[in-house]
Amino acid sequence: MSTTEVDLSQVAEGQMVTVKWRGKPVFVWNRTEKDIAEAKETQLSALLDPIARNANLAADAPATDANRAGEGHEKWLVVIGICTHLGCVPIGHSGEYDGWFCPCHGSEYDTAGRVRRGPAPTNLEVPPYQFVSDTKISIG
Ligand code: FES
Repeated sequence: MSTTEVDLSQVAEGQMVTVKWRGKPVFVWNRTEKDIAEAKETQLSALLDPIARNANLAADAPATDANRAGEGHEKWLVVIGICTHLGCVPIGHSGEYDGWFCPCHGSEYDTAGRVRRGPAPTNLEVPPYQFVSDTKISIG
């Protein structure tokens, strides 16, 4: 099983980088306070997909911001960069919900990577990962 290490000290606040894990793009986003507040203010009832889709949590965990972001490191959001509709790579810092916009069919994701406008059926997936220090994660 291959893992990818990411040095978070190289990612400035507000910056989003793309790394490769098992051939897939993974977005690593150092969210601002505003991004986090926006995600926290969103009610679960407003979500198209209320499930966290976080490989590090139970399969039925709800899609709160806390369940989407890094455990104990809420500014970090790590998601697989593949639209859950038909697999295009969404564009970051775009769309009405300030997260991602998928150019293929117009799906939009919020600042926690949760789908807010279809046709994508589910939230961007959070891959298995852990913090090996405050400034480094290991994906996989
Ligand atoms: Fe993203 Fe269709 S592949 S909206």
